[in-house]
Amino acid sequence: MEAIANRASDATGQQALESIVFLNGDFVPLSQAKVPVLDRGFIFGDGIYEVVPAYAGRLFRWPEHLARLKRSLAKIRIENPYTDTQWLSLIESLLKRHPWSNQFIYLHITRGVAKRDHAFPKSAQPTVFAMSSELQALPQAQREAGVSAVTLDDQRWLHCDIKSISLLGNVLARQAAVDADAAECIQFRDGQMTEGSSSNIWVVRKDEVLGAPVDHRILEGIRVGLMQVLCEACGLTYRTAAISREEVFRANELLLSSATKEVLAITKLDGQPIGSGKPGPVYHKLYQAYQQAIADNRGPEPTMA
Ligand SMILES: Cc1ncc(COP(=O)(O)O)c(C=O)c1O
Repeated sequence: MEAIANRASDATGQQALESIVFLNGDFVPLSQAKVPVLDRGFIFGDGIYEVVPAYAGRLFRWPEHLARLKRSLAKIRIENPYTDTQWLSLIESLLKRHPWSNQFIYLHITRGVAKRDHAFPKSAQPTVFAMSSELQALPQAQREAGVSAVTLDDQRWLHCDIKSISLLGNVLARQAAVDADAAECIQFRDGQMTEGSSSNIWVVRKDEVLGAPVDHRILEGIRVGLMQVLCEACGLTYRTAAISREEVFRANELLLSSATKEVLAITKLDGQPIGSGKPGPVYHKLYQAYQQAIADNRGPEPTMA
């Protein structure tokens, strides 16, 4: 079978380069990164991940991402294999090896390789994989028109607070959206809004921005904390609350947030326009504030030669 290589143009656009990834201490071309089939990530989905954006070479909200990575590891009882400095230096090294101005780093840690048995192995070493991809701006048309979403029953498990690599529930949810020609879904559990398949969801009512309660039913996106900061900067009220289906449909605006989509307007839900059917004033304010936060970002930048 032909090797799968992630090819990208360099900064001058003249040369193709194969993406370099990190696997268990080594930097290797993506096509040469191999994991044994008995890795518990492959066999059980037994691991966690992180997605960290970097703008102009600087990580954005790295302390918050690192804290969530440690929380996810602790929740599934994998010992953190690296120090904070080691995590940062491996990421810096990946950023340096790729020409894109804006990148996102994918970190993936599994419980490691062991004989197949559900219980934790006694002596497995965690597998650590990391790669960088170009963080591309969303198409202008999506920014201007917003995107469609569909409502779905949340059929995932009850540990959605863990950024688990076992993503089948999220995969099925996203596919249901794609099958309905929508970009995302808005899920409901027991009649209350939870989140999207890979984003947090926000309901705007006048100048109030409402999110789902931060508990085991949703992933606490790094943009959840950021949303609080941005709302404050924009003079908007931020609140978490139980939100019903009716309240979602009655929203003046609906928004989603994630590392790669930043903040984006949802303008249609199950085929019905939300509010004016166009990205509204709160979206525009928050998007501007988000861009300002990126411009003001003083997160770590690459220091290695
Ligand atoms: C299920 C889920 N909720 C929320 C988010 C948003 O999290 P973040 O803001 O950290 O990207 C994601 C991101 O991938 C996600 O997968």
